[in-house]
Amino acid sequence: MIYLINASPNKNGNSVQLARLFLKGRKYETLDLVDFHIEQYGQKAEQDQFFQVYEKLTEADVWVFTSPIYWWSFSGLLKTFLDRVADIPYPPEALRGKQLFFLLQGSQPSKEIEMLDYAMHRFCRNYGLKYQGLAVTNYELQEIEGWELAPLQQKLEKLLADK
Ligand SMILES: Cc1cc2nc3c(=O)[nH]c(=O)nc-3n(C[C@H](O)[C@H](O)[C@H](O)COP(=O)(O)O)c2cc1C
Repeated sequence: MIYLINASPNKNGNSVQLARLFLKGRKYETLDLVDFHIEQYGQKAEQDQFFQVYEKLTEADVWVFTSPIYWWSFSGLLKTFLDRVADIPYPPEALRGKQLFFLLQGSQPSKEIEMLDYAMHRFCRNYGLKYQGLAVTNYELQEIEGWELAPLQQKLEKLLADK
């Protein structure tokens, strides 16, 4: 099962459209992080829904994150979700072996891409997920050289075929 995890506040925005392009023809579930109340790491609130989201997502063996670029980084919705993974007793067995694809959408993505790719790569390594890489588009959903959709789509195709 594939979960598309939308880290944009827009449920029909550019990040989601990029993901639809990436996942065209495939079956997947979408989870909009904006629909859930996820506290910052270190904050406590009765209405916190992080564990509810986490449990839902662990049902899928493939995760596709899609995020807008905000100030040369991925969105706060995604950062908070990743931070909160630190609340799960380490090592979180449920994450081991999950395949992670990362999509980024910006108005003018530039140097930050490499750093964001590195951050996600290291996050996955820490938690036993298998990072498959990143694809990026600009405001017109045009692909960015070196970060195109096709190689990542081929990885997904191969992965699903090997199952
Ligand atoms: C707070 C904020 C900061 C942004 N910073 C950047 C940026 O650093 N680089 C960039 O390329 N785009 C930046 N953008 C533009 C968004 O990435 C772009 O509009 C994107 O398409 C939004 O995706 P969405 O439609 O899924 O919300 C920023 C947008 C906002 C709201």
